[in-house]
Amino acid sequence: MKCFVKKHKHMHQVSNPSILYFGTPVVLVGTTNSDNTFNLAPISSAFWLGYRCMIGIAAHSKTTENILRTRECVLNLPSVNQAEAVDKLALLTGSNPVPAGKVAKGYVHEPDKFSRAKLTPGESEIVKAPRVLECPVHLEAQFVGIHPFAAETGIENIRSVTMELKIVRVHLDDSILSDQNRDHVDPEKWKPLIMSFQQFYGLGSRVHSSKLASVPQKLYRTPDTERA
Ligand SMILES: Cc1cc2nc3c(=O)[nH]c(=O)nc-3n(C[C@H](O)[C@H](O)[C@H](O)COP(=O)(O)O)c2cc1C
Repeated sequence: MKCFVKKHKHMHQVSNPSILYFGTPVVLVGTTNSDNTFNLAPISSAFWLGYRCMIGIAAHSKTTENILRTRECVLNLPSVNQAEAVDKLALLTGSNPVPAGKVAKGYVHEPDKFSRAKLTPGESEIVKAPRVLECPVHLEAQFVGIHPFAAETGIENIRSVTMELKIVRVHLDDSILSDQNRDHVDPEKWKPLIMSFQQFYGLGSRVHSSKLASVPQKLYRTPDTERA
């Protein structure tokens, strides 16, 4: 069957926004510095498939340096209740000196981001990197692979990388678990903090029934899930 492209009558404009951050969950990445102190960095470029997570992160960040050296981190997911603490971490870097690209944006060096944001580091079970006790979700993770962004335009243009992380232990606060099944997160209870175009949001209420929800969640289990 031949498909015809419709002449477009909507009011879409060709646009050239500086950023394309359409709304993703905030993650606080906990890592260990070379002197065994902790670093903590807010990011919002993250998604999960099975027990793997892909993060997008500045190549010249303390977090990237720490993950590449230690091969591990903890992905701590704040809820809307931690927005104020997350905002206290903005424009701070564990890197000293502050990388050139960050100086222009107003970043300053902060060696103790936990104290600065009044957050509490907690011990992990598998990795040495810190959990953030105030966050309802802690995902202990091991580094698996790295992929540079924009490398096809020349190595000197690499500013960000994606990193594949394997989740090796999951800690969930009681308050977000399903009453029927302690291995399920209840999406009515979980209120992720969302960053959309540099602003903090929460999710609204459920908007439609979901056919996908008829698939039993246990069908998504993988060998990674069983090992964690
Ligand atoms: C809410 C929020 C979301 C952010 N998202 C990202 C991101 O997805 N990737 C990234 O590289 N930086 C992101 N940043 C900026 C980092 O926090 C910044 O690069 C910081 O320097 C990282 O800390 P570090 O240098 O100590 O590792 C975000 C900052 C905030 C406040």
